[in-house]
Amino acid sequence: MDIQIIMDKYFSRLPKKVAARIFNAVKDIPFVKTAIEKELDTMMAELESSVKPYDDTVQRFSRLPEAGLSRDDLLAVMEDIHAKETEKWKTGHVSGAVYHGDPAHIDFLNKIYSYNSQSNPLHADIWPSAAKFESEIVSMTAAMLGAKFGTNKTDDNICGVVSSGGTESILLAMKTYRDRARQEKNITAPEMIVPRTAHAAFDKAAQYFNIKIIHIPVGPDFRADVRAAKKAITRNTIVMAGSAPCFPHGVMDPIEDLSELARKKKIGFHTDACLGGFVLPWAEKLGHDVPPFDFRLPGVTSISADTHKYGYAAKGTSVILYRGTDLRRYQYFTITDWPGGLYFSPTFAGSRPGALSAACWAAMVSIGEKGYLDATRKILETAAAVKAGIQEIPELKILGDPLWVIAFASDELNIYQVMDQMGRKGWSLNGLHQPACVHICVTLAHTRGGAARRFIEDLKTAVGFVKAYPEEKGAMAPVYGMAATIPFRGLVSEMMEKYIDLLYRVK
Ligand SMILES: Cc1ncc(COP(=O)(O)O)c(C=O)c1O
Repeated sequence: MDIQIIMDKYFSRLPKKVAARIFNAVKDIPFVKTAIEKELDTMMAELESSVKPYDDTVQRFSRLPEAGLSRDDLLAVMEDIHAKETEKWKTGHVSGAVYHGDPAHIDFLNKIYSYNSQSNPLHADIWPSAAKFESEIVSMTAAMLGAKFGTNKTDDNICGVVSSGGTESILLAMKTYRDRARQEKNITAPEMIVPRTAHAAFDKAAQYFNIKIIHIPVGPDFRADVRAAKKAITRNTIVMAGSAPCFPHGVMDPIEDLSELARKKKIGFHTDACLGGFVLPWAEKLGHDVPPFDFRLPGVTSISADTHKYGYAAKGTSVILYRGTDLRRYQYFTITDWPGGLYFSPTFAGSRPGALSAACWAAMVSIGEKGYLDATRKILETAAAVKAGIQEIPELKILGDPLWVIAFASDELNIYQVMDQMGRKGWSLNGLHQPACVHICVTLAHTRGGAARRFIEDLKTAVGFVKAYPEEKGAMAPVYGMAATIPFRGLVSEMMEKYIDLLYRVK
């Protein structure tokens, strides 16, 4: 019997804990194990063609070619791939992912990259420009996010470093708080408190750095529950976090209350502004009601803000900011007795791509305040039109009160089938769960060429189709369906691990 049918028929009707216990007990019985394996392999085989579309069209290499290929031939292959893949996002059919997308802007960044492709900030003597670019990226970002300059108090001095992305910024911050707590408070069993909706990077940090993570619930408005946060604090709490806004539903946590709680308890508070860092300051200037989230709040001790999202840099940069250079020091790595010499590095990597920092710096100073204001105005106007359009569809409901990342769900329809129908029309949206919903993260790409209008038209058609054909199976609906009904989370993890294996497989 198909494993999904077994799930639907037996497990989905049982209380989750009971189902998990039964499933745990039977999963290793050989015939059950084989059935599960078979089901997972079928699922992977179905995904294979979408994951490996070049298997039959572009030469594959499982080992080095004996003689190198000609550069011209390779350039032709790359041009072909580039054209195909650009097609997917240039019309504004993708949620998030490409945040600017204007060809002239991209060409400009590519040119800056090409001048700096050999630059490595690890060698500040050879490429002192890298230190110039990175220190100025940090300073410009800090100035946007409430840093006061000219203060003599070192603990108010907002400082930071450039990292490779939002996840690295969050990992670095959590490691920093762990090391500070160990050094200054002798905490050896550290705990961190994050809302259920905080980015998965916090869970990754907890796993990597052996920090106990406590997830606090969000309310019906999808914002973190402050009372639950207060209750969760123990003697081992090293940091609390909130999102501005969160990835799933695009809503802002009550950062003011959470950070004040943290300040009173003398623990760190991290604002994850990976998504909002380069939008919210401008939204506020444009007159939108932006709740406080940055260093103007005395309890906020670190902020992550992604330059490679709404900072419109090339992929691969983010900024992690700290209140006070003393705190930042806990992030650094130095070693004095390595035979390779005196070695130090500010982030996880050793050698780093200086070209990305150069391109990031160039993006920021070429866009300037006026450019960011203009981009934010367009994004928020487009997001308002998208929200109004979704509200017109009676079968759908918007979750919370989002700004420009808009999550919607349905009480009547399978929302993943709606997502699959949107996929057939070229839309790449994000499927989310707990609760089941789908989101669109509005970027500059949606502000051009009527993308928002097309989105609403296509969404209306997709909803109509799913209403008429509720049995129609798409590509992702069964995967999310299975993930939702499987009581044994280890199996869902295995499904994802198999998917990563698939990505790295050469036929
Ligand atoms: C709120 C938030 N935090 C962190 C991240 C992680 O960023 P990255 O994918 O650059 O590692 C994201 C990514 O979308 C995000 O939305």
